[in-house]
Amino acid sequence: MRPPFAAESFRHALLGWYDIARRDLPWRAKPGERADPYRVWLSEIMLQQTTVKAVVPYFEAFTRRWPTVDALAAATRDEVLAAWAGLGYYSRARNLHACAQVLAGGGFPADEEGLRALPGVGAYTSAAIAAIAFDRPAAVVDGNVERVLARVFAVETPLPAAKPELRKLAAGLTPASRPGDYAQAMMDLGAGICSPRSPSCLVCPVRTFCAATATGEAERFPLRAAKAARPTRRGEAFVIVRGGCILLRRRGDKGLLGGMMEVPTSEWVDAAQADASVSGVGAPARVAWRKARIVQHTFTHFHLELRVFAADADADASAAAAFSGEWAPLDKLAAFALPAIMKKAVASGLEALGLSPPSQGGSRR
Ligand code: ADE
Repeated sequence: MRPPFAAESFRHALLGWYDIARRDLPWRAKPGERADPYRVWLSEIMLQQTTVKAVVPYFEAFTRRWPTVDALAAATRDEVLAAWAGLGYYSRARNLHACAQVLAGGGFPADEEGLRALPGVGAYTSAAIAAIAFDRPAAVVDGNVERVLARVFAVETPLPAAKPELRKLAAGLTPASRPGDYAQAMMDLGAGICSPRSPSCLVCPVRTFCAATATGEAERFPLRAAKAARPTRRGEAFVIVRGGCILLRRRGDKGLLGGMMEVPTSEWVDAAQADASVSGVGAPARVAWRKARIVQHTFTHFHLELRVFAADADADASAAAAFSGEWAPLDKLAAFALPAIMKKAVASGLEALGLSPPSQGGSRR
């Protein structure tokens, strides 16, 4: 779609700003350097639905431990899941490992189509890698870029219906020269100056092109359709310790938190449907449970509250007999793939038993 201004002037203004204001990010090539496709791919997978701030320490830990895609392919899936623990959206870690194994020995394809065929690489990520790692003129549109475009063109269609229109507008602006820098410049603009609630239009390098700024209410864009409310689910989690170890089990490969570790829990039941009879499911009555702090976590499609119960199986062996699983040493919990909600449950249960929480692997999100 052709913009109502000279695309070249827009790009010139944006790239001129980027050359002096670009963020220094650990996966980014310095000016004049070539980007490393492995680091670009890893960062783009980590940055899906996750902030730069949350990603940086994980990116640094991963690249220190696995400096190349071949090194990552040689790791076990469980090592990768454990290193990912706390970052969320765990299908990304499963796909990351599968993708590394596809690429081992051969390296990355350089075009969008080849990239798109890889596990865990969708339309956005293949465009981002093609542009940033291989300087291909791909239209890279994430949430930040959608906001910038919706403002520049004052798009009145609400998201998500506006997505196809925004993609066309993005394609009309994407340059043949420096497409990787252009993509990252749009991301940096969206992450900083063109922020969701209070954009700094006065210092924006593309304000003269921006139709939303001209209306004086840039923050009105992008418009959004009302979201359905997130339901709450409730369940019970059981922290059982014995001889300096805690009882963990592995979740099935499919679905939420697939392949990750957990403390035993009851079913998670929609709070709107739960009644008193649900309470206590999975908790053997004869065990002397200590009631611990409730822990909570918000997933994409629901909010979860777990009532935590703790038991010392050295004192009461029936607690250990209640569930099957493996005994994980408390001082080595960082090596286990515990998602954030389970780290919170462990900390709550240990607190109730008067034990200190593990020094590593605490909740990060
Ligand atoms: N968000 C997604 N990809 C990004 C990148 N390469 N740089 C900064 N923020 C991003």
